[in-house]
Amino acid sequence: MESHEKEALLVRWLQEATRVLAFCGAGVSAESGVPTFRGAGGLWEGHRIEDVATPEAFERDPVTVWRFYAERLEKLETVHPNPAHLALAEMEGRCREFLLVTQNVDDLHERAGSRKLIKLHGSIKEVRCTACGRIGPLPAGFSFEAVKGGEMPRCGCGGLLRPNVVWFGEYLDPEHFQRLEGFFRSCPLPDHPTPQHPNTPTPQHPNTPTPHPILLIIGTSGLVSGGYGVTWLAKRYGAKVVEINPEASALSLDVDLALRMPAGEVMRRVWPLVKAVV
Ligand code: APR
Repeated sequence: MESHEKEALLVRWLQEATRVLAFCGAGVSAESGVPTFRGAGGLWEGHRIEDVATPEAFERDPVTVWRFYAERLEKLETVHPNPAHLALAEMEGRCREFLLVTQNVDDLHERAGSRKLIKLHGSIKEVRCTACGRIGPLPAGFSFEAVKGGEMPRCGCGGLLRPNVVWFGEYLDPEHFQRLEGFFRSCPLPDHPTPQHPNTPTPQHPNTPTPHPILLIIGTSGLVSGGYGVTWLAKRYGAKVVEINPEASALSLDVDLALRMPAGEVMRRVWPLVKAVV
């Protein structure tokens, strides 16, 4: 299929869909200027994961870990949401059931306006106390320079604060999985609408098939835990799986439609056509 035909198909699926789950990764923020993790020039170059993104690294050397995150936080202030973030935020308002699940720890989805959002890997704009466990925004007076100079942020209880992100070797919040699974579980199977009570009035268009739910996989390599089985789950509940990524990923074998282009570029063309109708 030619790429313009693929885009036309995506437009049609999104126009018809009443349920869309977007599963996103670092590639969504790439066109905003946030480096991906595993691509050329990726963030981890020059930083071994074990030195900056594990609980052991933080225990051993919190200053190095905080410096790394302070640099990322500082960089985040200079970037902006791109058309992919903006389209996903608008989709939430126009689609009857919508959920955005991101592995990104930046805040570009929130800044674009997304609210129905699960941040699987946490947020670098939040901190967690290593002593009392309290989670909150960066403390008042948080200074990139002070942190880079070795001054560690502290909780009101005196405990050392850490970035509220999920590091390698740490568990995800099980509630996040429940919401993700619940999204698909509550989908009526396509063409087999949920049985109605006998007194329920006959729908106006009884022959209108239930549209397939759509899983949009955008900008993730799927290398972390095989994308948490999201494609398997989606397929089990009859979803159409669409991938938007210039490169094939570990999830590509499961997709029904692959658009091999940058996400912002695709959304800049596709979304205005979708929203003209929905
Ligand atoms: N549009 C869409 N996809 C893109 C773009 C773009 N403009 N640019 C790059 N990509 C794709 C790459 O081809 C790659 O498949 O984004 C993907 C980025 O993959 P990773 O760097 O592995 O990022 P991600 O899948 O989000 O990693 C998951 O791993 O290191 C951990 O916690 C970290 O959240 C991160 C997780």
